[in-house]
Amino acid sequence: MKSLHLLFVVLSLGSFLGRVALAQFRPDMLELKWVKIAPHVLSGLLLLTGFSLAFGYTGDHGWIAAKLVALIGYVGLGVLAIKRTDVTRWYAFGGALLLFVYIARVAVTKTIF
Ligand code: HEM
Repeated sequence: MKSLHLLFVVLSLGSFLGRVALAQFRPDMLELKWVKIAPHVLSGLLLLTGFSLAFGYTGDHGWIAAKLVALIGYVGLGVLAIKRTDVTRWYAFGGALLLFVYIARVAVTKTIF
C-alpha cells in the first residue's frame, strides 16, 4: 500500500507541474475534458491510499494531522498557481512546492518540524 501511495504522490506532483506548464504555455489545453478529470482521479487515489495507510498506522498520529493541514495549503496554493496569470502564479507555485517538500519530509521523519 505504501508503494501505491508513493506512486500517486509522484503522479499527482507530475500532474500539478504539468498543469502549471499548460496554464503558462497552452492555457487552451486546460479546457480538455481529460486534463480536467485526471488530476481529481489522481488526488482521490492519493487521499485514499494515504487514509488507508493512516488507519493501519499504530504510532503517534500528530504528524498525519500536520500532513493534512499542509495538504490543504498545498491544494490552495496549487489552485492559485494554475488560475492566476500574473506574478502571483509564481509565488503560489513556489509556496506549493515548499509545502509539498514539507509534507514528504513529515511523512519520512514523522516529526512536524
Ligand atoms: C501531497 C501529498 C502527500 C505526500 C507528498 C505524501 C508523501 C508520503 C511519503 C514520502 C511517504 C513515505 C514515508 C516513508 O516511507 O517513510 C508517505 C507515507 C504515508 N502517508 Fe503520505 N503523502 C501525501 C498525502 C497523504 C495523505 C493525504 C495521507 C492521509 C491522511 C497520508 C498518510 C500517510 C501515511 C499514514 C503514511 C505511512 C507512514 C508509515 O507507515 O511509515 N499521506 N507519504
